[in-house]
Amino acid sequence: MKITYLGHASFLIEMNGKSILFDPFISGNEMAKEIDIDNLKVDYIFVTHGHQDHVLDVETIAKNNPKAKLVSNFEVVSWFAEKGIEGHGMNHGGKYMFDFGTAKYVNAVHSSMLPDGSNGGNPGGFVLFDDSHCLYHAGDTALTKDMELIPMTCPKLDIAILPIGDNFTMGYEDAAIASDFILCDQIIGCHYDTFPPIKIDKTKAVEHFDKKGKKLMLPDVGESISI
Ligand code: NI
Ligand code: MN
Repeated sequence: MKITYLGHASFLIEMNGKSILFDPFISGNEMAKEIDIDNLKVDYIFVTHGHQDHVLDVETIAKNNPKAKLVSNFEVVSWFAEKGIEGHGMNHGGKYMFDFGTAKYVNAVHSSMLPDGSNGGNPGGFVLFDDSHCLYHAGDTALTKDMELIPMTCPKLDIAILPIGDNFTMGYEDAAIASDFILCDQIIGCHYDTFPPIKIDKTKAVEHFDKKGKKLMLPDVGESISI
């Protein structure tokens, strides 16, 4: 499994020969300007919730990749279906076996209005797994005890993507507690530095995890991590 950071909460996951894009907010992100969305070849676009900083480039990338399937909550999938984008709707607690592996839609504590004010359903995160790998992308969320359900209901996590930018989501201190709840010590931080209210001290964040014997990875935009 290869995980490439595309800025903010966007990642490209390569798993069993398929490319799975999460939460594309690239063309509007000054920090991701070296990523050309027209070069992205994807099989799936996973969207954790309806906010603009997670859905901005969905339509362009879906139209560039007509076979790609959008996976999100039912309301987000229905909204994009009206724009001619094919999708697979899910809801909290449900899992489904795709051709790359299984995806489970799990709870997030946040909000989810779509850019035009439409109902974006309930926000979530996704756990992706097969027989040998398990990854959690938390989406935008507060720290919540519901995270304890993930290791009870999914295979052991190898790695988790958690928001650490504070203000709109949990900050890194709460993310370190989340890593206890999900029983995973390998964390990739996201949703920080993109906007002024979520600028963080990266050194402090990494040290905070270090002190707990955990690893916080903060890849550069375009950088990949293989597990
Ligand atoms: Ni959000
Ligand atoms: Mn967000």
